[in-house]
Amino acid sequence: MAPGRFITFEGGEGGGKSTQARRLAAWLSAQGVPVLLTREPGGSAGAEAIRALLLEGQGFDPVAEAMLMFAARREHVVATIRPALAAGMWVVCDRFADSTRAYQCHGQGVPGEVYRRLADLALEGLSPDLTLILDIPPEAGMARAAARGVAADRYERLDAGFHARVRAGFLAIAAAEPARCVVLDAAHPADTVFAGIRQAFAAKIGLDASI
Ligand code: TMP
Repeated sequence: MAPGRFITFEGGEGGGKSTQARRLAAWLSAQGVPVLLTREPGGSAGAEAIRALLLEGQGFDPVAEAMLMFAARREHVVATIRPALAAGMWVVCDRFADSTRAYQCHGQGVPGEVYRRLADLALEGLSPDLTLILDIPPEAGMARAAARGVAADRYERLDAGFHARVRAGFLAIAAAEPARCVVLDAAHPADTVFAGIRQAFAAKIGLDASI
């Protein structure tokens, strides 16, 4: 059986990632593609337990925080992502390792070398086939996130400078890896963003964008 494809959604707060990830998973399903929708931090029992520590706790030393992100990711990869891909499913994941690079490295100052060592250990070469980066100016994204009416998590409460560094981090990743990453303007209406996602699929993965 052919292994499935691995698609990730990335970006700052309030860009509509979770909505678009759900929509893409539903669209793939409707094309007859077996699909698993999952998220980080989380996506398996152990990783969801670590998520609670990360999002609601008091905060950690930044390197410790990156290690916890990768501990959760390792659990998720081993328990959920690799088995699904091996069974031929397509995995759509709301955030993955690029979030650690953007939030912990660009946002919190963790050295890139620490990221690379953790990624080597935890991922053993696993990398997304396609990464959709939903880009939005932090002020607009934070306003949208606030309008959701859900209590802000620890990252959402950080200052504007932090969110600007995170955004720049995602754009730097996209510039460095253009074959894998597509940046979409998330300030557009959701339908326009989704049309861009389908086009990215046609270009990078080969499913017909007109479906
Ligand atoms: P969410 O709001 O998309 O559910 O993500 C939870 C928060 O966790 C979000 O503010 C970004 C943060 N995060 C990191 O800082 N590093 C990571 O590696 C991941 C996956 C998420």
